[in-house]
Amino acid sequence: MVRYDKKSVITLSVNGALQDVVVRPSDLLLDVLREQLALTGAKPGCKNGDCGACTVMVDGWPIKACLMLAVEAEGHEILTVEGLGGATAVQTAFVVANAFQCGYCTSGFLMVCQALLTQHPQMPEEHVVEEWLQANLCRCTSYQEIRNAVMLMYEAQS
Ligand code: FES
Ligand code: FES
Repeated sequence: MVRYDKKSVITLSVNGALQDVVVRPSDLLLDVLREQLALTGAKPGCKNGDCGACTVMVDGWPIKACLMLAVEAEGHEILTVEGLGGATAVQTAFVVANAFQCGYCTSGFLMVCQALLTQHPQMPEEHVVEEWLQANLCRCTSYQEIRNAVMLMYEAQS
């Protein structure tokens, strides 16, 4: 019988560094990042896969960290908002476009936009941007400012 409360040590690759963590099979990647590695940029919102506040990148793709078990993340490259460093094109674009108010959703949007840039280095068609942004919810600011930030992010690449 599988013991879901049994803890074991796994090694996660987070923001370019290997980190040992002690997890149960049922521990969420989101909780392990926040509680064991003090990476609190990924936010708990719905914890149900709906809001995107917990988004990180795994192997270059946006992943909702509340839907991934920590044990599933072993052997993959995890990038959190802390790993962006602070002066990337996407972060600058969000500031210039005023694409946030309370900021709770912002780290998730930054990561989904960074993943969009990773997977589509050239600006894709508008409907593609819309599809990517649909993964995340914001309850304060206008989505138009976030769209504007995506435009600025791509302009900074050209
Ligand atoms: S907290 Fe993960 S999608 Fe809402
Ligand atoms: S800026 Fe407040 S929820 Fe998005």
